Amino acid sequence: MIEFKSVSKVYQQGQIALQNINFKISSGEFVYLTGHSGAGKTSLMQLIAVIERASIGQVLFNGKDITDISLKEIPYLRRRIGMIFQDHHLMLNRTVAENVALPLLIRDFDEDEAYELVKQTLEKVGLQNKEEFYPLSLSTGEQQRVGIARAVVARPDVILADEPTGNLDKGLSQDILALFELLNRDGTTVVMASHDTDLLSTSPHRTLVLNHGHLVYDGEFNNIQ
Ligand SMILES: Nc1ncnc2c1ncn2[C@@H]1O[C@H](COP(=O)(O)OP(=O)(O)OP(=O)(O)O)[C@@H](O)[C@H]1O
Ligand SMILES: [Mg+2]
Repeated sequence: MIEFKSVSKVYQQGQIALQNINFKISSGEFVYLTGHSGAGKTSLMQLIAVIERASIGQVLFNGKDITDISLKEIPYLRRRIGMIFQDHHLMLNRTVAENVALPLLIRDFDEDEAYELVKQTLEKVGLQNKEEFYPLSLSTGEQQRVGIARAVVARPDVILADEPTGNLDKGLSQDILALFELLNRDGTTVVMASHDTDLLSTSPHRTLVLNHGHLVYDGEFNNIQ
């Protein structure tokens, strides 16, 4: 489903973010991405969504080389991806329900169907009573969950979650992880970047470890030295 072949990323100012990265993630897997701040986790995710492009090597998505896809093709790729960012990127002048509905409206869902899906998804993330609230009247954890609802409402093939629990307390972090596991059990591939090794140890999965742009480990979380 996602494959990196000898991928390096060098930003314009010369910062080397990723060096000769090779891995393959199959459909239905749950994979953690970890490593120190600046190790290259966000950069790696941005290459999958073509927010940034590889400098060297190839990135494949569902067998297709997306390294050099045209700007016209990017929206079609992104429809298959649910992205959760380090900060939530919500639209502050739209209600919770409107924020979550956005990916459906872009995809031409009819209004009733969209409303039903938004309702179901908000229930899943525990925000069933907050539909008409505006983002700034929610707590940080609630805002983060709106971002998650928006990312998953259109049932993407893969969830790319970049530090989705970064601002949350332990209990809420556990809830978010449990939510991803639920979606994963339904067949969604999950790639989750996190520093929080205590959290990851509560629910171990295959883990990719980055260190200064190098992939230094690819295996079971429990076997990391
Ligand atoms: N847009 C950019 N332009 C230039 N350099 C960048 C850019 N984004 C990231 N970098 C550099 O690339 C390297 C990897 O950064 P990246 O954000 O991928 O790390 P990270 O593992 O996500 O870190 P964190 O845990 O702090 O989020 C860093 O040295 C960073 O300074
Ligand atoms: Mg990051």
